Amino acid sequence: MLREGYESYRRYVNPLVALRAELLGEPTRITAVRDGRLVEPRGEVEDFHGTQTFGHRHPAITQAVSDFLASDSPNWFPCRVNPYAGLLAQRLCERSARTLEGSRPAYSNVFFANSGSGAVEAAFKLARAATGRPRVISLDGAYHGCTMGSCALMKPGMFKDPFGPHVPAAGPIPFGDVDALVAALREGDVAAVVLEPIQLEGGVRAVSSAFLEAACELTAKHGALLVADEIQTGLGRTGRFLASERWPRRPDALILGKHLGGGLVPISAMLTSEQLFERAYGEHYASAEAHNTTFGGSALVCVAALAALELLTDELIARVAEVGDRFRGRLAAALARHELFVQVKGAGLLVGIELRPSDHPWLSFEHFGIDALVDQPTIGVLLCHRLYRRGFYCFACGHDWRILRVLPRFTIEEATLDAFVRAVDEELEYLCNLT
Ligand SMILES: Cc1ncc(COP(=O)(O)O)c(C=O)c1O
Repeated sequence: MLREGYESYRRYVNPLVALRAELLGEPTRITAVRDGRLVEPRGEVEDFHGTQTFGHRHPAITQAVSDFLASDSPNWFPCRVNPYAGLLAQRLCERSARTLEGSRPAYSNVFFANSGSGAVEAAFKLARAATGRPRVISLDGAYHGCTMGSCALMKPGMFKDPFGPHVPAAGPIPFGDVDALVAALREGDVAAVVLEPIQLEGGVRAVSSAFLEAACELTAKHGALLVADEIQTGLGRTGRFLASERWPRRPDALILGKHLGGGLVPISAMLTSEQLFERAYGEHYASAEAHNTTFGGSALVCVAALAALELLTDELIARVAEVGDRFRGRLAAALARHELFVQVKGAGLLVGIELRPSDHPWLSFEHFGIDALVDQPTIGVLLCHRLYRRGFYCFACGHDWRILRVLPRFTIEEATLDAFVRAVDEELEYLCNLT
């Protein structure tokens, strides 16, 4: 069935993605999962994409889902009063409250969606409905997903240009530019400022503490919502439960996704406060579902998320911080000798390897006959291509192809990370020698 399905994917789903995977030598013939890794004919693959925090098909999460399917519980509740969603929402609020410093009010209201962009959309609409204002601001280099609201928050480029006209009064200001933020908020029409604590697709770029301080203070002063998109940084990835937990003030809305469902099921969440929910939707019960989605927070996905949260212990998150520090240190030390290496970036196990584009004509997309990409650097994808042959799956950042994004599972053995450091070192040497 799998073999036939791969061919059907090429034919019926996305021929260009299939072609790209083939050209780059990505693992396209996966036959099984073993101990959290992918198995393909060439051997095992360690997946650094980041959705599989506990490795592929973690037994505890798989078991929880199997137990649920074997039970006699409904999955979907027609009245929407769903005990599984209730429990998961409570756990998320309690868990985030435990990590928030001092006397800050905790999150107390949760909306469940089926994708990251679905949760971004929920925050976008919450902000407009709660403030009655139109404008939603993001930062240049942001990636918030592909729905029309999320897309409007992106900078011009392939993710945005084909889809205009865009949602009005939404879009980025220059990255980290406090003056631009001050000017925008002064207009009095801003409903929300949406930030990723560390932009992943933007090139593993952290917002500066000066910008964060200004964003926290000025959004409060001007009555705009501060929204943290923690789809990549949340749930332990940076060595903290939330990357925003030490921000000068708690964001008014927090977005979680990706591995919230344990890498097994699609679920995302937007956490906010009862007060904001009330302001946006609390007029009467008919407006309470003005924004909703049919399968958001169904029992099955909540069961998986509850099992994943159980696995995400404080000890595991502390391990992410420690192992991540050592990993980034070893990478930086090993790669420093290469002309094509610039720096290692990130926090915890959210890691970026910044490369210097080669100006050698043989290493250009023009040379490979791919004219559509002549303005893009090849170095990131060439290194990925070499790493796939060594059993490591990583990728270049969507908005900045010079930077490799490396997001290992939290349970990864340090010996595997050391093997990755050796592989990057050797393959970068190979590419340096080519030039
Ligand atoms: C920071 C961030 N926000 C939003 C999204 C969109 O999530 P999804 O692809 O699940 O819609 C992504 C996806 O990678 C993301 O990285």
